[in-house]
Amino acid sequence: MCGIIGYVGHRPAVPVVVEGLERLEYRGYDSAGVAWALRGRIHVTRAKGKLAALKEKLAASPAVTATCAMGHTRWATHGVPAERNAHPHLSNDRSLALVHNGIIENYQELKAELSARGYVFHSETDTEVLVNLIAERRKSEPDLLHAFARALREAHGAYAVCLLDCAEPDTLYAARMSAPLIFGLGTGENFVASDIPAFLPYTRRVLFLEDGEIVRATASGHALFRLADLSPVGREPQTIQWDMQAAQKDGYRHFMLKEIFEQPRVITDGLAGRAAPAGDGVLLPELAHLPVPARLHVVACGTSYHAGLWGRHLLESWAGIPVQVEIASEFRYRESPRFGEGDMALVISQSGETADTLAALRLMKERGMPVLGLCNVVGSSIAREAQAVLFTQAGPEISVASTKAMCSQMLTLALMALHWGERTDTLEPARRRELLELLRSLPALLDDNLPEMHATARELARKYAQARNFFYLGRGHCFPLALEGALKLKELSYIHAEGYAAGEMKHGPIALVDPSFPTFALALDDALFPKVKSNIEEVQARQGKVIALTNPGMELGTDDVWRIPRLPAPLSAFAALPALQLFSYEVADYLGKDVDQPRNLAKSVTVE
Ligand code: M6R
Repeated sequence: MCGIIGYVGHRPAVPVVVEGLERLEYRGYDSAGVAWALRGRIHVTRAKGKLAALKEKLAASPAVTATCAMGHTRWATHGVPAERNAHPHLSNDRSLALVHNGIIENYQELKAELSARGYVFHSETDTEVLVNLIAERRKSEPDLLHAFARALREAHGAYAVCLLDCAEPDTLYAARMSAPLIFGLGTGENFVASDIPAFLPYTRRVLFLEDGEIVRATASGHALFRLADLSPVGREPQTIQWDMQAAQKDGYRHFMLKEIFEQPRVITDGLAGRAAPAGDGVLLPELAHLPVPARLHVVACGTSYHAGLWGRHLLESWAGIPVQVEIASEFRYRESPRFGEGDMALVISQSGETADTLAALRLMKERGMPVLGLCNVVGSSIAREAQAVLFTQAGPEISVASTKAMCSQMLTLALMALHWGERTDTLEPARRRELLELLRSLPALLDDNLPEMHATARELARKYAQARNFFYLGRGHCFPLALEGALKLKELSYIHAEGYAAGEMKHGPIALVDPSFPTFALALDDALFPKVKSNIEEVQARQGKVIALTNPGMELGTDDVWRIPRLPAPLSAFAALPALQLFSYEVADYLGKDVDQPRNLAKSVTVE
C-alpha cells in the first residue's frame, strides 16, 4: 500500500502535494518523492525514510513555482526501501514521470521486452517498467492518452497511477484498477489522490474513479474515459461530509474497523502475482531456491503465533511437512533446542521488529538453521536478517490490535503449503486447483458478508458486554482461532478471556463454568463438528451460556447461534476470523474503551 497525490491548479503545487503526502503517510512511510515539470523538463526529488527527509531536501533547494505536481509515499512491495526505488520514476528519455500504488504482476515479462529494446532500469520496481512501457507505446500511438491506456491494458495487476509529461506541464493523467483513486474537483484546481484527506482542506467535491477508468485533468477541467476503448464516462461528482479524522479512517469509526473491512483487499493483494488467475500454480520465487524443509520450526509472538498455529494444519496436511510452533520468548531460552538435517525455521512477524522473534531468528541462524521470514514491513530488522522473506503485503496496520495482518499471514501460509505440497507431490493438481479457486473466491465472499457479520457482532456485543470472563473454544484448525478470539477480547475490552482446546475443558477448566461465565464456541461445519457439539453440551449442562459460531444448517441448541458463510475447512478460518475480530471490536466500543490504542500495549514490542 502506498499513497499517491497529484495537483494541478493556481497555487505553488509542490507544497500542496507535500501537505497531501503528510495525510497519506499512514499508507506507507519508507520513502517519498515529488515530481513537477518546468521549462520542458521533469524535475524529481526523492528521499528514503519518512516524509521529513523529503521535506528537508526540498527546503534546501530553491522554491518551486510549478502549479502542477505529483507525489508518492511508499510502502515497499518490489525492492528494498531506498532512494532509487522511491517514486516518482522516470522514463529513460526523462519525458515522463509516474507514481504508482499497487503491483504489476507481469512486470518481469514487460521488463524483458523493454530490455530487449534497449531500455535500462535503475530501480527494482515494477513502476519503472510501467513508465517505460508508456514511453515505448507512445512511439506508435497518436497521443499520450492512447499510449497510457494501451500500456495499462498490457499491465496485469492492481494499480492507481498518476502520470506527468514534460511536454504538457499543466496536465495530469491518472488511472485506477483495483487500487483506490479519488478525483477532487476544486475551483480553478483539481486533485487526484489515493485517499480523500490528501485534498480535503481544498475541496469536498469528489469523483470516485472506478476500476478501468482514466482521467485527464488540467486546472480548469477534466475528462474521464474507459480504459478499454477510451470512450467517455459521464459521472456527477459527490460532496462528502467527512471531517479530516473520519476521512483518514475512510469513514470508519476506528482504524481497527477499517482494517477488518480491508481484509478482502488484503487477500486480493496477497494472491496477486502469486496465484495466477486460473490454474493450479503458486508462484513463490522466494522459496524456489530453497529445499522443501524436512521439518519446520515456526516461531512468533501474539497474533502472529496464532497464525503459525493455524498454518501448521495446512503445512502438515497439504505439504506433509512436520511443523513445530513456538512462542518466541519461550523458544529463545529453551536449552539447546535440537535441529536436524533439512530443518528450516520460519519466523512470523507483522512489524518485523518484535524483540523476542528477532532474538529467536538470530539464535537459529547462529545454530546454522536456514531462516525464512514472514513479514509485513519491508526493510524491517527481521526482513533484513532472514535468509529469505515472504512479504504479506497487508499495508500499514495502524490499530494496535492486529487484524488484517493475521489474515495476510494465513493467506501466505496457505500459499506456502500449496507450493510445498506441489513439490512434495502431496497434493494432486485437481485438489490444488480446487483450493486455489476457494482462495480466489474469498474477497468477494467477505465483501458480501462483512456488513451482516458486523451487524450480528454488534447485537451480540450488547448482550454479552457485561461478562467479566469468557471462554473461547475450538478444535483442530479452530483452536488457534479460539486463542486469537480470546486475545482480541482481552486486549481490547480488558475482559478476562481464555482460549481453550474444546476437548481439554473436562480436564479442569470446566470447573469455572457458571451462568455468569459465557463461552464463545467455534463450531464450524467440519469433521470435528460432532466433537465440538458434545463439548458445547458439557458447558450447557453446567448452566454456561454459549454463543456458537457456525454455518447454515448445523443443528445447535445454544443461547445464540451465529451463522457465517460455509467454506470447506481449513479455509473456513477466513470467514471465522473477521467474526471474532468484529465481536471484540464491538464489545470494546460498547464499553467505551480506546479501541485503536488499548492501555498498556504497543504496536511493535521492541523490548523483551
Ligand atoms: O509485529 P508482530 O507480528 O511480531 O507482533 C506480535 C505481537 O506483538 C502482536 O501480534 C500482538 O499480540 C498484537 N497486539 C495482537 O493484536
